[in-house]
Amino acid sequence: MKKRKLKNKKFVSKPAKVNVKSKKDGKKNKKDGIIKKLKFKSKIKKSGLKKKLEIKNKKPAAKEKGVLEEYSIEVDKAKVKIIIRRDTSGVSYNVYVRDIGIATAALLNEVRNELVSVTTISMNEIMDPGALAGIKKRFMQEASTLLKSKLPTLTEEMKEFLIGKLMQDMLGLGEIEFLVNDPNLEEVVIPSSKEQIRIYHKKYGWLATNLRITKEDEIINYANIIARRVGRQITVLTPLLDAHLVTGDRVNAILYPMSTKGNTITIRKFARDPFTIIDLINNNTCDLETAVLMWLAIEYEMNMLISGGTASGKTVLLNACMPFIPPNHRIISVEDTRELMLPDFLYWTPLVTRTPNPEGKGEVSMLHLLINSLRMRPDRIILGEMRREEEARVLFEAMHTGHSVYATLHADTAAETIARLTNPPLNVPPNLLKAVNLNVVMFRDRRKGIRRILQIAEFEAAQDRAEANLLYRWIPEEDKFIKHSESSRFFEDISRNTGMSQTEINKNLDEKRKIISWLIKKNIRDLNDFGRVMNLYYTDKEGLISAINKNDTKNILGR
Ligand SMILES: Nc1ncnc2c1ncn2[C@@H]1O[C@H](COP(=O)(O)OP(=O)(O)O)[C@@H](O)[C@H]1O
Ligand SMILES: [Mg+2]
Repeated sequence: MKKRKLKNKKFVSKPAKVNVKSKKDGKKNKKDGIIKKLKFKSKIKKSGLKKKLEIKNKKPAAKEKGVLEEYSIEVDKAKVKIIIRRDTSGVSYNVYVRDIGIATAALLNEVRNELVSVTTISMNEIMDPGALAGIKKRFMQEASTLLKSKLPTLTEEMKEFLIGKLMQDMLGLGEIEFLVNDPNLEEVVIPSSKEQIRIYHKKYGWLATNLRITKEDEIINYANIIARRVGRQITVLTPLLDAHLVTGDRVNAILYPMSTKGNTITIRKFARDPFTIIDLINNNTCDLETAVLMWLAIEYEMNMLISGGTASGKTVLLNACMPFIPPNHRIISVEDTRELMLPDFLYWTPLVTRTPNPEGKGEVSMLHLLINSLRMRPDRIILGEMRREEEARVLFEAMHTGHSVYATLHADTAAETIARLTNPPLNVPPNLLKAVNLNVVMFRDRRKGIRRILQIAEFEAAQDRAEANLLYRWIPEEDKFIKHSESSRFFEDISRNTGMSQTEINKNLDEKRKIISWLIKKNIRDLNDFGRVMNLYYTDKEGLISAINKNDTKNILGR
């Protein structure tokens, strides 16, 4: 993957020599009363403890030099501290799990063994990803009872931490659960047992962590746990796994010796707080004018293609535009990976493809889903990425039969989009391109690390050729968007579709500018807040505008 290679260059920190896994927390230990202090690393090694219990002597403090950021993450009530630190070898991501000491570890082991015997899990539950929540709840109750009977003096806080830890070790991915639950991380990679776990942090890029899975078997075990959650398996004979978890996260696992250094797991996290159009205006990906133009296009059912290079932000822009769809329209999306995330108000059915099982059975392709989606009476169809001729054909047929269609495709300019569409492998006849009302092209400047809307174009299509007419383009020197040519058909298409005159369209654009500007001013950017405003726009526009005039946020957001 291009993106990864490039970003890897940024990766400068060397993995630490010692496998540091936990932090000593003297105060808490004293309170707990049962935990022996361990003063020296050498002692721990001698004691023959499992690596898991190794302790870091240095106590992290906020004023410690080189600390860039510090926050905590909580999973199943077990809390850990994250410290991002810069030292001579670069920036690193450090997880400090509370040190539980030998005695508590032994006790926990005992509880673990008893838990296995008292809690029964049916085969059905193991295979059902949805059943995990139920199993977890039962486990937590049992664990709580067992811990209470064994250690009546345990503080509530410590008990919760221990239960959380048990859950992660028995049902989850151990300490990786903390990484998966850190909203600042986009990707978590277990490269092999010989290397530190690496993560992609939203702010700092690729970083090494202080965590390492020390045994290859354990990595395989984690891959298996993930596979089981989605009803699949990973074995010597089927050493590749590409799975979407119910959470929307995507996991890829590849076993040794195909991955030559060791077993590798890559978790690509599903964005839980997606960019909205407000974010994209704020970070200058687009501006107010281009945003309201896209809103107008989507409100009035114009078809839109978003092009761009790899990781140029096509999917992000597509997702940011979808809240513009009126709430009473049925939306069906078809993707290979769940990436889209729409506000709660929308009437949306997301579909995802499935790869065949090891026997080559059970595949559900993009084409299957696309054809099926047409039988589901959609108003709007979203295709994650257009790659094959058959998909393109169905999509253009859908446009012709009156659905509005949104899709992304790989091309660097509007002219290249036309070339890509009309040549192999897509082979769309040029005259069909008039069905595309708007083509938005995304651009990513890798050096500056910025993403911009490069062009907004309409297509002028004749029998055997099609051309792009640029309405807007980005000028890099000034980093701004300018109007390029007059539209020859975009506004005409809207007038024809809606019966609106150009004056009415202009008035409509003015209202949109006003609403978006107000949202920017009020920093109302969250997906569901934004969705709520759009919902109001479509159900009670007068009310929305009058509330905006009165600056009445409460009436709009309901809080
Ligand atoms: N406009 C943007 N501003 C900031 N970051 C962005 C923007 N668009 C995308 N990104 C980042 O780039 C990553 C890849 O974007 P994505 O839309 O999936 O690319 P594409 O679909 O073009 O391959 C996203 O996960 C997001 O973190
Ligand atoms: Mg994409």
